[in-house]
Amino acid sequence: MLNRWQLARQLETIRSGKMPHHIAIIMDGNGRWAKKRGLPRVAGHRQGMQAIKRCLAGLKGLDVKYLTLYAFSTENWRRPKSEVDFLMNLPGQFIGQELTTIMENNIKLGVIGDVSGLPAHTRKAIAEGIEATRHNTGLRLNFALNYGGREEILQAVRALCRRCQQGDLDPSAITYSDIESCLYTRDIPSPDLVIRTSGEIRISNFLLWQIAYAELYFTDTLWPDFSEMHLYKAIAQFQRRNRRFGGV
Ligand code: IPE
Ligand code: IPE
Ligand code: MG
Repeated sequence: MLNRWQLARQLETIRSGKMPHHIAIIMDGNGRWAKKRGLPRVAGHRQGMQAIKRCLAGLKGLDVKYLTLYAFSTENWRRPKSEVDFLMNLPGQFIGQELTTIMENNIKLGVIGDVSGLPAHTRKAIAEGIEATRHNTGLRLNFALNYGGREEILQAVRALCRRCQQGDLDPSAITYSDIESCLYTRDIPSPDLVIRTSGEIRISNFLLWQIAYAELYFTDTLWPDFSEMHLYKAIAQFQRRNRRFGGV
């Protein structure tokens, strides 16, 4: 009961402050969460899905427009095949289990990353989720899958070079917005707040271009333990920061 009261109070506090328009989360610590319990790593990934559901429930009614979740990096292919296979099943499981709730909450699904590198069944599940939620106008929920910030910038450079080669673009006239138009996030504003769980203080190739002026928030909480309260605390911390963007 005390917990619910504390949660309501924290919610009330953040409601009166400025909301981050776009929150991005590096969902880390699933493996350690499982290890602590003597469970296989994949049990941590399964439990991590519950944390995603809690975040979505927590954001209901708040003025956050975009939530981007780092689910699989271009470097995560280095993991054992059995773990990768498990992770590649999660988008389908998540969409299958949550589509009704997603529709009820007017959530629009999206994906950033090199989708062409994902297994066909994963691509199919994502495409179906995106199609089903195409007309929704509420929270935009993006999964970063087979996503790497360097890879994203590299393919943008290639695309711009091709345009220069074709004579469509003058190299000396390339602007920030030309670059941004080649990124996976071309129709998404940059994140205001980036949260990383599990105590690691690094970015691990996430949204390298887009986080230029994001507020970074690190917590020791492992992702499967992340709750609405943790999310509200991160937002409250964001609201106490003074964003200067290089000014005074
Ligand atoms: C995050 O948890 C999930 C993914 C990267 C897919 P980890 O699996 O990295 O968990 P730890 O960092 O090993 O504890
Ligand atoms: C970052 O976590 C990637 C995701 C959360 C999907 P990792 O666990 O892969 O990052 P490192 O290896 O600790 O840097
Ligand atoms: Mg990790």
